[in-house]
Amino acid sequence: MHLIASTASLLALVSSTFGAPLTKREAIPSYVVDYAPMVYLYSADPYRPADIKSQLDPTHPEVDFTAVSGAPDPLTLDNLSKLNNLGDVYLTSDDNVETNPAWLYGVTPNDDHKTDGAVSCAIIVNDHGAGQVDVFYMYFYAFGMFYFDDLRSIYSCIDFGGDFFGLKALGFDGFNIGNHVGDWEHNMVRFQDGKPQAIWYSQHANGEAFKYSVVEKYENAIRPVVYSANGSHANYAIKGDHDHAIPNINLPQGLIEDHTDAGPIWDPTLSAFYVKYDADSSIFTAYDENTPIDWLKFTGHWGDQQYPKSDSRQETILGIDGTQKYTGGPTGPEDKQLNRTKVCPDNGNDCILRSILVP
Ligand SMILES: *[C@@H]1O[C@H](CO)[C@@H](O)[C@H](O)[C@H]1NC(C)=O
Ligand SMILES: *[C@@H]1O[C@H](CO)[C@@H](O)[C@H](O)[C@H]1NC(C)=O
Ligand SMILES: *[C@@H]1O[C@H](CO)[C@@H](O)[C@H](O)[C@H]1NC(C)=O
Repeated sequence: MHLIASTASLLALVSSTFGAPLTKREAIPSYVVDYAPMVYLYSADPYRPADIKSQLDPTHPEVDFTAVSGAPDPLTLDNLSKLNNLGDVYLTSDDNVETNPAWLYGVTPNDDHKTDGAVSCAIIVNDHGAGQVDVFYMYFYAFGMFYFDDLRSIYSCIDFGGDFFGLKALGFDGFNIGNHVGDWEHNMVRFQDGKPQAIWYSQHANGEAFKYSVVEKYENAIRPVVYSANGSHANYAIKGDHDHAIPNINLPQGLIEDHTDAGPIWDPTLSAFYVKYDADSSIFTAYDENTPIDWLKFTGHWGDQQYPKSDSRQETILGIDGTQKYTGGPTGPEDKQLNRTKVCPDNGNDCILRSILVP
């Protein structure tokens, strides 16, 4: 037995003996809430923000389409990261999603703009020192998809022997593509000395950065406004239609359109997990003792793996590769580059900090 224990292990011993944290928990900096985005959901989007914890109930972990053995039982937000040892895990729906189980649809915010009964946001604070603090507002939806209604452009880009109006007459209005169980999107607000400087809006595999001063403010006050697109939940700074090529869906640029409008307004701060992130140690610390944090280290996927061609649920538009009806579930907050140099994630694209509002 070692006679000289390190301070850390002594502290751990004292802490485990008395069961109480030794240091007082930090308070959430007020600007984290004061300048938090307000999110306009798309009026007709059936897929609303969802409870993060509840995603574990109707799903089970699979690797390569096979249920894993050795997963914690029960699987909870306090032990989800144990799955990391079991392979590239997909939290896979117990139900056939084509039967539209109710849990896919989440919770519409109430009159107070709260997703009542659903903790559907994780707010993660990364203090870089010297007054610079990045705050991530991570939004969770149980299902995401892309509704493709621009049939005309499909016709213009492929050599297809039919005609647009003929297909319309047969009742084709559009296609759901890129459906996936689990959907994570986010904003990041960068603060300097408690004052917001810039905001990142995630959109599919990339997004847009704006100066805080130029974005729309909720009720002309201080909270940035965000428009969440129909089905895809990509986040935009202005409402209307947005032309964006979706990575992994290989149609020519400009053909894909996201739709946003000022539907129900969601205040993500009202039902959220608040967590501090230390980049050097990769440690998450909750601001409140009831907030689970282990799940933030889960590196697997929050939905089913992309169904293979042989799965009867899988389809493509007119056989075009890259228009799969179902794609794989996304990874979680841990995979969103929580320690950024620029406001944008480092993904090979230029980081343009926009000084005017654009779609
Ligand atoms: C998982 O977490 C729950 C409580 O949150 C606990 O009851 C259970 O024992 C944990 N399982 C493992 C294997 O950690
Ligand atoms: C929004 O998505 C739904 C499917 O969830 C679709 O039925 C509807 O047509 C879409 N609206 C627009 C404007 O694309
Ligand atoms: C986190 O970002 C800061 C820049 O603000 C950098 O100096 C530091 O090395 C990064 N830490 C890690 C672990 O990457």
